[in-house]
Amino acid sequence: MIPMLQYKYATDSNPNYTTTGKSSLKFQLINQRADFSFALFSGGLSNPNLVAVSNSITFANPKAPVFPRLAQGKSWNEMTVTWTSGYDINEAVPFVEWGIEGQARMRSGAGTLTFDRSMMCGAPAKTVGWRDPGFIHTSFLKDLWPNIEQFYKLGHRLSNGTIIWSKKYKFRSSPYPGQDSLQRVIMFGDMGKGEHDGSNEYSNYQPGALKTTDQIISDLENIDIVFHIGDLTYANGYISQWDQFTAQVEPIASTVPYMVGRYKTDYGMFRFCIADTEHDWREGSEQYKFIENCLATVDRQKQPWLIFAAHRVLAYSSNYYYGQEGSFEEPMGRESLQKLWQKYKVDIAFYGHVHHYERSCPVYQSQCVTSEQSHYSGAVKGTIHVVVGGAGSHLSDFSQVQPNWSIFRDHDFGYVKMTAFNHTSLLFEYKKSNDGKVYDSFTISREYTDVLACVHDSCEATTAAS
Ligand SMILES: [Fe+2]
Repeated sequence: MIPMLQYKYATDSNPNYTTTGKSSLKFQLINQRADFSFALFSGGLSNPNLVAVSNSITFANPKAPVFPRLAQGKSWNEMTVTWTSGYDINEAVPFVEWGIEGQARMRSGAGTLTFDRSMMCGAPAKTVGWRDPGFIHTSFLKDLWPNIEQFYKLGHRLSNGTIIWSKKYKFRSSPYPGQDSLQRVIMFGDMGKGEHDGSNEYSNYQPGALKTTDQIISDLENIDIVFHIGDLTYANGYISQWDQFTAQVEPIASTVPYMVGRYKTDYGMFRFCIADTEHDWREGSEQYKFIENCLATVDRQKQPWLIFAAHRVLAYSSNYYYGQEGSFEEPMGRESLQKLWQKYKVDIAFYGHVHHYERSCPVYQSQCVTSEQSHYSGAVKGTIHVVVGGAGSHLSDFSQVQPNWSIFRDHDFGYVKMTAFNHTSLLFEYKKSNDGKVYDSFTISREYTDVLACVHDSCEATTAAS
């Protein structure tokens, strides 16, 4: 059986289709390593009957390397490049050619991975959702010079010596940790995918995904790194949707590091500690040690901006469901981790999972530590917690109760941009995906001596009772 990838109704372009038999539909096709055909069905989705199938159409090279995505490697001066092709290692040797324009070119080999149907857990991935994923290649570009524009091309060397090339891409290598320069970060969760041609696909419920993607692409010259904190495609077992997602974010992910998963990473004056909420984070767990190590080992004099992020809300959300539970968080989240955020003076913590935007005051033990809302300075008395899960998936409702710590809520699609101007000045902006305009913002001005200052429970433990 040939998997159906996208569909439209013949009545979309002509409401009188059923009487005239005439309709014209446009589809945008991406290279998914195989020929495409168009099929006409009667009976709708619930009772489809095949009426006709078109001739197949073929890409010039269905196996061509496509959809490169960048991520910072284990250290600041390493960039990983991952892409998709139809070339197994028996047929061609994958590599990246890269360097600084006008200087010697380097080549770095790539590893190749894939998976097959038997490795899927169950339907639909094993059944109607299965589609050959092709080959996933990853190369590690090492010893990058800081902050310089680099070009790169994906290559596959065939056994006869011919090289199949991708087009040429560019990225700017990361700043040296602590480097004083303009650094701009995008943060969001739960984006998903959509089709620019207006076609439908399975599990199609991320109405904001394209808006967010397009806003970020339009501002790409003013963005240095992107963090997508979980819920990427909502492919839900339909393998071809991973190609659709990587194609959708390609303009972003091929140009700036597009970070997903659990890791510690440094970007200039920022340190990011990203946790994985699908695994235990409580005290004594392996992950708790990872989080503490990440927060504890940064030199705040060089990297003042300390950011924590995780997919599920580990601290503060007045989302309807958390509100119903009366907890306003994942069980044991805040209880387990707030002493670390407080001790190590985390500036901002981000979460997804809940599909809207909410910002807390700087807060500790559910108490706002300041009445200030738009400009923060002085000692780090509490962490600002932000839910930024409204990048595309169907929106979540808020609870009717708005706790004191919740100072801004928006039931709409959006994402966050942080701009570090230098070691003492940070701008935070929440932008709506509809228009790219700023709807909530604040600034932080802070000297290193402010970070050193003892605050509640940061130097020695006390109780919040007053
Ligand atoms: Fe989600």
